[in-house]
Amino acid sequence: MNGPPRDWNERYRAGTTPWDSRIPSRELARVLAEETIPAGTALELGCGTGTNAIFLARSGFQVTGVDVSAVALSTARQLAAEAEVTIDFQLRDLSQPLTDLPRFDFVFDRGCYHCVRKINVSALLDNLARCTRPGSRMLVLTGNSHSEGEQGPPQLSEAELREDFGSLFQIDWIREFHFEDAGNIEGPLGWSTLLTRRS
Ligand SMILES: C[S@@+](CC[C@H](N)C(=O)[O-])C[C@H]1O[C@@H](n2cnc3c(N)ncnc32)[C@H](O)[C@@H]1O
Repeated sequence: MNGPPRDWNERYRAGTTPWDSRIPSRELARVLAEETIPAGTALELGCGTGTNAIFLARSGFQVTGVDVSAVALSTARQLAAEAEVTIDFQLRDLSQPLTDLPRFDFVFDRGCYHCVRKINVSALLDNLARCTRPGSRMLVLTGNSHSEGEQGPPQLSEAELREDFGSLFQIDWIREFHFEDAGNIEGPLGWSTLLTRRS
């Protein structure tokens, strides 16, 4: 799932997108149900074809979805229109400084951070510092270094997650989960990390 930004359009055009399950993330739904996360403003990083942005909008959030792939965003806009929800989809590269985004109550990331961190983790964290405020929550779903084999998403250790996010965010918990892949099959083992922005 790595590569320079231009690769993402090629992957969406070719349909080599196993992560694009078109099923709202069960882990996201679990966390929203279990934790006290009110339906405020939400930013989805690397929203792809918008499945979870649409789910968040249907759950009452006011959603902005950003992605570096114009191809993915075109599908996302179409699917949001069909779902009759309003979402602000924006073509953005999170490995570059974004200085004009507002601050959000909730940030969701399913499979974007673990790619962008390999290119420019400090730019991504600077962007997160700018678009959150103390108390903002963030849920990050990433690959997991306990997975068997090297296929699938970039694999991180729990220590790497703590290292990347620990200064900007309080780490509420880190737990294992499984992604859903296209075809509703059980996808790779991942880490689910819930964060609260520090003061
Ligand atoms: C593994 S896919 C996950 C897509 C979506 N979150 C989902 O769950 O279906 C990673 C997404 O991150 C996007 N992405 C990768 N690098 C990016 C960057 N530098 N800035 C913004 N989006 C990026 C890709 O275009 C892709 O849609």
